[in-house]
Formats: sequence, C-alpha cells, structure tokens
Amino acid sequence: MSTILAKILLSIVFILSISRNSDAQFEDYCIADEQATEDVLQNAMNWACKNGADCSAIQDYQSCFFPNTTKDHASFAFNSYYQNMKHNGASCYFTAAAILTGLNPSHDSCKFEYLP
Ligand SMILES: *[C@@H]1O[C@H](CO)[C@@H](O)[C@H](O)[C@H]1NC(C)=O
Repeated sequence: MSTILAKILLSIVFILSISRNSDAQFEDYCIADEQATEDVLQNAMNWACKNGADCSAIQDYQSCFFPNTTKDHASFAFNSYYQNMKHNGASCYFTAAAILTGLNPSHDSCKFEYLP
C-alpha cells in the first residue's frame, strides 16, 4: 500500500473517531426560555404534558416539584417532551417559549432525562 493511501485512510479513521466522540459528548436539553411569560409557559407546559411528556416528577412534592415555579416546571415538561419525541421530528420550540441548552439542568434529586 502506498504511503499516500495509508495517510488518507488514517485521516479518515481519525475524522470518524472525532465525530463519534463529539456526538457522544453533546447532550441537548430543552428548557424554558427566560424571556417567555408565565402564561405562555403554562399553556406550553399543559400541551407538552398531554402530548408525550412525562410530567409525573413535577406533580406536588415529587422529585422536580421544587423549585415550585412555572419556569422550572415548564423546563422539565419541555425536556421530557423533547427527549421522548425528538426522533419523531419534534423540535424544542413551544411557540418560542423553549430553548436548547448543552448544560444538564438536573439538580438534587430532580433528574432531567437525556436520550441519545
Ligand atoms: C406551588 O406554587 C403554586 C403557584 O404559585 C402555589 O399555589 C402552591 O401553593 C405552591 N405549592 C407549594 C407546596 O409550595
């Protein structure tokens, strides 16, 4: 095998390994946008909880109930919806009330799910 061909093959292997690593490391979470109003968040959260999000953790005194704010509860609902539905074409939008973040929003016993 010529050295040029060997170098090309090595480059390809190297590039593949980089893209595989970065894929594995990038986790995207869908959370409430700071700019969104309470009303918009509340409506979007209600919709998410009826359309594929698992909202059990934000019910009274469950693991993600505190902080007891619309924004925190909406973030949990948006993320659950997004993780469950993203492979079916769902986006993190919610009438512009949601944004994607690479930072895991989990805190204390409240675990935000990430599905590859
Ligand atoms: C949670 O927040 C809602 C809305 O502000 C309030 O009505 C309710 O009493 C709070 N519950 C607890 C347990 O803090």
